[in-house]
Amino acid sequence: MPITSITIAPLPIPESLAGQAGADFTASAELANLVSCLLWGNNDFWVSPAARLEGSRANDYTATYLWAARDGDRHVGRALLELSLQDNEQNGYVFVAVHPQYRRRGIGRRLLAEAEALAGSRGRTTLQSWSEHPVGFKMEGQAMLQAETGYGSAPAASPAVRFATSSGFQLEQVDRCSRMPIPADAGRLIGQVESAAARAAGSYRLVEWADSCPPEYLDQYAVLRQRMSTDAPLGELDYEEEVWDAVRVRHKEENLKRMNGRSLVVAVQHAPTGDLVGHTVLEWFPEQPEVVYQEDTLVLRAHRGHRLGLWLKARNLQRVAESWPQGRRLYTWNAAENSHMLDINLALGFAPAGDEAAWQKKLPARPEAG
Ligand SMILES: CC(C)(COP(=O)(O)OP(=O)(O)OC[C@H]1O[C@@H](n2cnc3c(N)ncnc32)[C@H](O)[C@@H]1OP(=O)(O)O)[C@@H](O)C(=O)NCCC(=O)NCCS
Repeated sequence: MPITSITIAPLPIPESLAGQAGADFTASAELANLVSCLLWGNNDFWVSPAARLEGSRANDYTATYLWAARDGDRHVGRALLELSLQDNEQNGYVFVAVHPQYRRRGIGRRLLAEAEALAGSRGRTTLQSWSEHPVGFKMEGQAMLQAETGYGSAPAASPAVRFATSSGFQLEQVDRCSRMPIPADAGRLIGQVESAAARAAGSYRLVEWADSCPPEYLDQYAVLRQRMSTDAPLGELDYEEEVWDAVRVRHKEENLKRMNGRSLVVAVQHAPTGDLVGHTVLEWFPEQPEVVYQEDTLVLRAHRGHRLGLWLKARNLQRVAESWPQGRRLYTWNAAENSHMLDINLALGFAPAGDEAAWQKKLPARPEAG
């Protein structure tokens, strides 16, 4: 089929999933789900069009742009660009996906060019993207492209790696995606929670909430969320500290609620000062009830080395069994060089499920077109 039969155009984020605009958004969302399903061989990362729409709505923190590649009425490719608006205003985050039957026809390249042009016109000078490589990708004797960090690699011949490198991206970092079966072994969790609690006795205590941070902890929790943006290893990814306050914490919570998601948070409080010095977050979407996501885990530098990370995570896992009993698989992502966190995860029962490659491309500086 000649490449000219494929049209590429911006896809406005609709108000709702009703009407033609809603149908187009739904088709694009389902294409993203299909590409993920074919890659992973399962539907664990399926996200409903409704949740994707809520996650894409204009807000004070992120602007989202979509493009569709169409063959007639059929959606065969998509690009999504996110621009952060309160910090990291040098960056654009881009995700390109093309239907397997339409690959190697230049559609991905055209979609990327659209996103790149818009990012450039908004004054962005760095593009970042991520590609996923499930465990089965690594075959004996297969050439691997090493990350710039020196830790982790991605299969050099995979479409995503070929596409990214041929489009001028550099492989900066690799995150390991780990998975563990849940509910976790209750006996082991009790042992881990009790021994960490005994070690912390008198110095630290845990504070817990679901979905909404108690008002008295909001400001301190914002400090932890902000610190999380730079404390996890980032290699040479161009990423500055995010700016968090109580309003941003509430925005995040509201956003998750609109996506019909739930969260469980455990924070650790330093008893002598009353300060929150660490936290861990789990998220769950009832529309995909078997899957639970391990999000942030942070212990402030001055308080590391007391088993607080393991304590936080083990305690939150106990809560999963009570709050989200349908959960069967827990996923988490950590930098391949983050050996402390990976060790904690192994102790908890995680095993590698794949790698996520983090790509970066520098764009020429351009005056902002508004
Ligand atoms: C990566 C992806 C978007 C590429 O889409 P595509 O439409 O096939 O890409 P293009 O046809 O525009 O390819 C552009 C260039 O990338 C390289 N490339 C892309 N796929 C390749 C493959 N399977 N093998 C070798 N080179 C490949 C080639 O250099 C190609 O140029 P050429 O055809 O002139 O040689 C598509 O494979 C996909 O959706 N993968 C799953 C999602 C994903 O990983 N997204 C990208 C994350 S960075």
